[in-house]
Amino acid sequence: MIVEKDLIKTVIYASRKAGGILLKHFGKDLEVEVKGLRDIVTRADLESENFLRDFLSREFPEIGFYGEERGGKIEGLVWMVDPLDGTKNFARGLEIFAVSIALLKDKKPILGVIHIPTKDLTVWGAEGMGAYANHRKLELDEGKNLESSFLATGFPHGNPEFVDDYVESLREILKRAMGVRRMGSAAYDLAMVACGLFDGFWEFGLKPWDTAAGAVIVKEAGAILSDIYGGEWNIFSRTILAAKKNLHAEMVNIFKSLS
Ligand code: IPD
Ligand code: CA
Ligand code: CA
Repeated sequence: MIVEKDLIKTVIYASRKAGGILLKHFGKDLEVEVKGLRDIVTRADLESENFLRDFLSREFPEIGFYGEERGGKIEGLVWMVDPLDGTKNFARGLEIFAVSIALLKDKKPILGVIHIPTKDLTVWGAEGMGAYANHRKLELDEGKNLESSFLATGFPHGNPEFVDDYVESLREILKRAMGVRRMGSAAYDLAMVACGLFDGFWEFGLKPWDTAAGAVIVKEAGAILSDIYGGEWNIFSRTILAAKKNLHAEMVNIFKSLS
């Protein structure tokens, strides 16, 4: 078995160390660089990624490394890392951000670790091994219905091509759900679905480093993961939906009725 307890412990340790790097910079007046369409990067993103690349490559020389900021190759066994998910929150002093590390085997996530430094919380899951928040095992119930559900979502601000379809989906969900939040960190959202704080999460236009770790964790916690039409999700999917079982079916029906 590739994913052994020692490997998990080492990755959790690495995620917490990277979280420490983020906290060291958090709240300071950091220089912000524009890296793409209304997208930014800070010294903290780069320091966290450099640390994770060096540390994980030294500990696991047989495993490749792909980081959001400096790329890599996505093949065989590879770490898929978002060194700081929620950069805009971070840069403005909003406490919602995370370190996200997944282990991919042939592009499929088999282990996910999400560390949320401001909560001192590490949420992880591994295929066939369950999901945990610090030492607590996560076991979600099947949920009730949309009317009583508290959901998270994200806006496709960097992907103009998704905006119209996304807004249509949001309009329908807003009419039916108990509450909807937009936190600004997809990894955080997925970790919180696994913890049961949110009953479900959907977003358009995310990237493999945003979702890979959270995908394993939510599934292992007992949520259903798919694209918004209920189709199989993979790291390159254009949409993602993670929700408790009963809610998932109801949401898929809504998205299908819009397509
Ligand atoms: C972003 C966050 C955000 C999502 C964006 C992502 P970043 O990641 O996950 O919630 O809506 O699409 O790009 O840039 O902060 O790592
Ligand atoms: Ca991200
Ligand atoms: Ca990032």
